[in-house]
Amino acid sequence: MESVAHKYKGDDRAHAGVPATKILVVDDNLQNVELLEGLLASRGYEVIKAFNGREALKKVEEVAPDIILLDVLMPHIDGYEVCRRLKARDETKLVPVIMITALNSVEDKVRGIEAGADDFITKPFQKPELLARVKSFERMKGLLDELENAQNVLFSLALALDYNDPYTHGHSQRVAELSKRLAAHIGLPPHEQEIIKKAGILHDIGKIATDKGVLHKPGALDGLEYRHVRDHPVVGEKICRPLKFAKPLLPIIRGHHEKYNGTGYPDGLAGKDIPLGARIMAIVDVYDALTSVRPYRSDIPPEVAIEVMKAEAVKGYWDMELLDAFTELLKSGGCEIKEGDMEEGIPD
Ligand SMILES: [Fe+2]
Ligand SMILES: [Fe+2]
Repeated sequence: MESVAHKYKGDDRAHAGVPATKILVVDDNLQNVELLEGLLASRGYEVIKAFNGREALKKVEEVAPDIILLDVLMPHIDGYEVCRRLKARDETKLVPVIMITALNSVEDKVRGIEAGADDFITKPFQKPELLARVKSFERMKGLLDELENAQNVLFSLALALDYNDPYTHGHSQRVAELSKRLAAHIGLPPHEQEIIKKAGILHDIGKIATDKGVLHKPGALDGLEYRHVRDHPVVGEKICRPLKFAKPLLPIIRGHHEKYNGTGYPDGLAGKDIPLGARIMAIVDVYDALTSVRPYRSDIPPEVAIEVMKAEAVKGYWDMELLDAFTELLKSGGCEIKEGDMEEGIPD
């Protein structure tokens, strides 16, 4: 039989059902835009055009391009400013920006780098060079998207696990949100707050391997059942370990049931040997468990929960400085979760 493979040669991505890579070309010079459009469209790219900085920012919102070719000198908002704004936003900071410029002094490049540009091409550009750069950023963007997908799958799994369980409904999201607020309250920088938030979403993901009969058992667990439930921080760490983005979250996931006096699990760590993120989560986790309905009891109000935790604190379970900070946050109304606070679900 005659091979049909030849039909699928070339750059026509439509055959494989793969959407074309979207490239936003931004230049106030119509001729330049048309030149780039012709070149890129002939290679199977989808070209979106913008003729000034303002329009570029609007198009980014509308079409979420995969790569941006950006002219520098434009009226109103110049290329540096466009780039700076894109790199400042979580949704667009990973989109590669290649600056195409007639300026080629060191100072201009430094300005571009400071604005967050990923690469530069000097006008007049050589077609093979431009295509090679675009190709390499296309590959990089593909890898980043895959990574992001893997991350989202994991978060979605954790949230689905939570939502399927009538007793823990929303627990991980609330723990994530309140842990982040406590981290902010004690002055941790935003990137650490974000790590703690992500760890909050994933902290109980190990329960995916816990027997639901044991998890929902009303009344006390026997020794074997208790040991089984206690596996979940280690299982959670194992699930997340292969993913590079999760590396800073692992000590928090593993350590969220450690106790300040060393009687927790899985490692029996004590005091400041327990990572700060895990000490924060330990407090918020118990608070949320107390204020939500569980198989073995109904929920209790926040003020009572904090009193119960303070009474328990004599046993040395928690980092007292953190518990005091959490009480402060609670009393200032900082623990109230309003509708919309957790809407996004998956953190950035
Ligand atoms: Fe847990
Ligand atoms: Fe939990």
